[in-house]
Amino acid sequence: MVDREEAYRKAREQLAALLPGCPDFVAAMATVAAVLKDHLEHVSWVGFYLPEEGGSLRVGPYQGPVAGTRLPAGQGVCGAAARSRASLVVPDVAAFEGHIACDPRSRSEIVVPVLEGDRLRAVLDLDSERPAAFDEIDRVQLEAVAAMLA
Ligand code: SME
Repeated sequence: MVDREEAYRKAREQLAALLPGCPDFVAAMATVAAVLKDHLEHVSWVGFYLPEEGGSLRVGPYQGPVAGTRLPAGQGVCGAAARSRASLVVPDVAAFEGHIACDPRSRSEIVVPVLEGDRLRAVLDLDSERPAAFDEIDRVQLEAVAAMLA
């Protein structure tokens, strides 16, 4: 099993090389999703949701099983993180009121906002089929990735 900190170090090193060459935000999000999916073995789904007028979220680039294309305003883990502009680590998705199950195999989740100053550009969402797969290591590392994107 690959050490998680080491996996994130490699992913961030790769992103530092790739992101400056990305022509726009969509290309950058697609690159982040691919790099994270490639390096993080505890992740079953990784991708982005983008804010729309009215507060709903529409799906952006992702890797993994097919996901819902639109999440209603303020709903789900993504909606809660978008509204609070704070990261959310959910060790048991079944215990999170309002969790939106895109993939019934998902057991735990982390959502990190991508902020540019005060502006919410996206949320970065990762799912795992393992319970309690995400912790402070993931939060700190993924917030650093989100900062690379903004
Ligand atoms: N579970 C998310 C919805 C998106 S899927 O995980 C890809 C949520 O509750 O917001």
